[in-house]
Amino acid sequence: MKIRIETHEDTKQIHSITYQAFENHPHHEPGAKPTEHLIVDGLRRDNALTVSLVCEANNEVIGHIAFSPILVNGEASTWVGLGPVSVLPEHQGKGIGGALIREGEAQIKQLGYQGIVLLGDPSYYGRFGFESHPNLTFAGVPAEYFLVKGFENTIPKGEVNYHKAFFETA
Ligand SMILES: CC(C)(COP(=O)(O)OP(=O)(O)OC[C@H]1O[C@@H](n2cnc3c(N)ncnc32)[C@H](O)[C@@H]1OP(=O)(O)O)[C@@H](O)C(=O)NCCC(=O)NCCS
Repeated sequence: MKIRIETHEDTKQIHSITYQAFENHPHHEPGAKPTEHLIVDGLRRDNALTVSLVCEANNEVIGHIAFSPILVNGEASTWVGLGPVSVLPEHQGKGIGGALIREGEAQIKQLGYQGIVLLGDPSYYGRFGFESHPNLTFAGVPAEYFLVKGFENTIPKGEVNYHKAFFETA
């Protein structure tokens, strides 16, 4: 298994993995179609994939993670948002998601960013050091699901906004 930066040839497969991973996701309304694959396409189209990694095994791309810039109080920041992260259903639970998260975080840090936020289950992301923090908030989501990980001691204070691609999927 290898984690590497996405290439143009991976685009279709990333779209498909993301769709499949989020189809039947428990947080979606029953019967609702997932939109996360459209978010990834939109981020790429807007050149807003800060880091985009795939996991390849036996010459097949089976997992993907995206990071994109966030705004804090409407201003550009030195933090990024993690997600979507997707692993093909038949390959879940084998450590691929964890490997993508760890390698993605390392690359984000290497690029000079100061921290990562995400919306997700604290019981999963807690193991990677993500936790909710009163400084950073995201409107409309219970605080325990909006998680942050700073690389330094300071965590900016304010309301977070994701890239517009997250809201243009209708
Ligand atoms: C979430 C996801 C990326 C994790 O990838 P993965 O390769 O299955 O994860 P890993 O093998 O590294 O870790 C598996 C562990 O995570 C747990 N886990 C996976 N998804 C979880 C979730 N949503 N909430 C809580 N725990 C979760 C598994 O129970 C397992 O726990 P264990 O190690 O105690 O047995 C993958 O399950 C996926 O694509 N899910 C559908 C899309 C999704 O929910 N993405 C994240 C949205 S925030």
